[in-house]
Amino acid sequence: MSTEKVEIFDTTLRDGEQVPGCKLNTAQKLKIAARLDELGVDVIEAGFPVSSPGDFQSVYEISKLAKNAAVCGLTRAVKKDIEVAAEALKPAKKPRIHTGIGTSDSHIKYKFNSTREEIIVRGVAAVKHAKNFVDDVEFYAEDAGRTDNEFLARVCTEMIKAGATVLNIPDTTGYCLPEEYGRKIKYLKDNVKDIDKVRISCHCHNDLGLATANAIAGVMNGARQIECTINGIGERAGNTALEEVVMILRQHPNLNLNTLIDPKFLFDTSCMVSKEMGMFVQPNKAIVGANAFAHSSGIHQDGVIKNRETYEIIDPAEVGVTESAIVLTARSGRAALAHKAKKMGYNLTKLQLDEVYSEFLNYADARRCVEDQDIHEIMEISERRIRA
Ligand code: KIV
Ligand code: ZN
Repeated sequence: MSTEKVEIFDTTLRDGEQVPGCKLNTAQKLKIAARLDELGVDVIEAGFPVSSPGDFQSVYEISKLAKNAAVCGLTRAVKKDIEVAAEALKPAKKPRIHTGIGTSDSHIKYKFNSTREEIIVRGVAAVKHAKNFVDDVEFYAEDAGRTDNEFLARVCTEMIKAGATVLNIPDTTGYCLPEEYGRKIKYLKDNVKDIDKVRISCHCHNDLGLATANAIAGVMNGARQIECTINGIGERAGNTALEEVVMILRQHPNLNLNTLIDPKFLFDTSCMVSKEMGMFVQPNKAIVGANAFAHSSGIHQDGVIKNRETYEIIDPAEVGVTESAIVLTARSGRAALAHKAKKMGYNLTKLQLDEVYSEFLNYADARRCVEDQDIHEIMEISERRIRA
């Protein structure tokens, strides 16, 4: 069975930048965009051009810069938004306008005070207007996660007729369960006329911690684009994390799905985004967190020292992390201590190791982790004790 490509649509610079308190200037955005282009993303969502002159400028500059990726600008289903986005995207080799409107009953009633029929009319008009400027038009059905499937299928059918090339099915509020989101995508595959002429996109939020699981359920049911951000940053609890979906597809080749992302840049890119945004990465974050390849319990350390694969499914080098870390704590055993000591130049006999280990436990009980400097001190104490 041949492997199918899943496109990676990175929205770190748009949805990601909606993190409260995080603001990037144009120079910072250009730096991140250049890295995303190098990383191999298919689409860079560079911003929301009508929102501010700064955002317009960033989208314009990124459009000049991107060598490989398509550059995308967000709009509401509003003529002026679309025209401003088209202007900002003018220098792009591959421009895409991302337009759309809320389709759930709650959005239709409270945001637009409108009707389902009127929403379709507005969506169609937006897609048609965008088509006057670019070939590649992505339509988002905001809050699709809570939109009735039958109505969503009608919306999608009309947007394809109007010329949309990509249909984005956002779980805007992070509400869906993976099985439910997957079923929604399958429903659209089965019920929307000409659906195979367009690409379905998953855009999942993380309010229930399910953004990555939902995006994977989406592609398992026929979607072929994932919208994601580096480190999973974004509005509220964030978006699907790029590094997670990329590594899930690599770890599960039986899904027959792949991306063009070069994984060896993942860790560096994570650090760059964290630094530029001033937003630290939680230590237990999958793939790129400080503890993602760190082992602290004795049983695990012993296994990893014998063979990394006992407790690691990913070789850290694959994602650009130098090596697994053995963190010395009160739960560490003799194997971990001997391993660390050897790396620091101390080759211990069994007898020496017994002696050093009891001193090590005294240190470990008094601290969270035993550091290199502590190991030097422990060695000195034991040597003095042996000499005395
Ligand atoms: O979450 C969402 O619905 C969005 C759209 C604007 C694509 O970010
Ligand atoms: Zn979003």
